[in-house]
Amino acid sequence: MNLSTEYLGLKLENPLIVGAGPFCDSVDSARQLQDAGAAAVVMRSIFEEQIEVELRALAHAIETPAESTPEATSYFPNFSEYQLAPDQYLHQIEGLKKALSIPVIASLNGSRMGGWIDYARKFESAGADAIELNLYQIATRASVAADEVEADLREIVHLVSDSVRIPVAVKISPFHTSPANFVLSLEHAGAAGVVVFNRFYQPDLDLDEMEVLPKLRLSETSELLVRLRWLAIISPQVRCSLAATGGVHSAQDVLKALFAGANAVQIVSALLQNGPRFLSVLLDGMSQWMGEHGYTSVSEFRGAMNLKRCPDPAAFERANYIRILQAWRIATYDEQT
Ligand SMILES: Cc1cc2nc3c(=O)[nH]c(=O)nc-3n(C[C@H](O)[C@H](O)[C@H](O)COP(=O)(O)O)c2cc1C
Repeated sequence: MNLSTEYLGLKLENPLIVGAGPFCDSVDSARQLQDAGAAAVVMRSIFEEQIEVELRALAHAIETPAESTPEATSYFPNFSEYQLAPDQYLHQIEGLKKALSIPVIASLNGSRMGGWIDYARKFESAGADAIELNLYQIATRASVAADEVEADLREIVHLVSDSVRIPVAVKISPFHTSPANFVLSLEHAGAAGVVVFNRFYQPDLDLDEMEVLPKLRLSETSELLVRLRWLAIISPQVRCSLAATGGVHSAQDVLKALFAGANAVQIVSALLQNGPRFLSVLLDGMSQWMGEHGYTSVSEFRGAMNLKRCPDPAAFERANYIRILQAWRIATYDEQT
């Protein structure tokens, strides 16, 4: 069975990428993932705030991050709380490149420019095969319009892509008014690929302590649905690569993302829950399904259920939404009376 695919211009043996997370903090665990079938790995992110702290420290402008801009930065971790300091991060790229034969993707996380160009170049020099920019922003100020937010993000993508030769992927939020247009504009800004979608951690409220609780829940399969819809809508309208992240927990999930038009999927929660060997379970499941349905390669069906090619495009659009709501109301009413 030919499971190979192409993502960001990189040839991958199969579509399974280990998403950004703690896995590549250890070269050994990254090697285990490769042995179990990972076709590429994304390292945890280095954060814009880390880089800023380092830049300020270098300029001897401040003693500690919390004293610099008290309101904004005192909530962020101190320098020592990050898992990999910027220098260690570069060292880790080198270590991973020596130990692995699969592509290593380094990740930058933030929403303002800061020292990203410098770090993107350092990632490239350290041997990273690609860079993933996680444009994690929460637009909290009512005075800032969506256009402004998107223009800033595009500018980051433009400047970073322009400053390195390796491909740049962009991990975006689901909360754009016109996601397909935004992805197209990122492609024009130089993105070689887009990762759909960032999964925001959802703070909860503790009503006894009157506190906001920072919580990170692992994903569930149902979270894939919003990705499938937008992959299906976006994929026929862009040329850049697309990866799904969020809710990939089974071989069926991987196949669905590919049918919707993804070039690859990224997996984190399922690997944290099941360990590296789960990758081989997914690959076996994919091969089995493909064999049973007469496919011999991923390229035969990638995008076959996108907005342009699926038998019922209206199912992705507004018409079906209305039909479903109406049907539900009538059915439940009939059952109750
Ligand atoms: C423990 C943990 C650490 C993560 N660290 C990062 C990170 O450093 N950078 C990033 O872009 N995403 C990070 N993510 C998000 C994942 O890359 C992924 O997008 C998200 O978990 C959804 O995929 P999943 O459903 O397979 O978990 C992290 C997720 C988890 C659970």
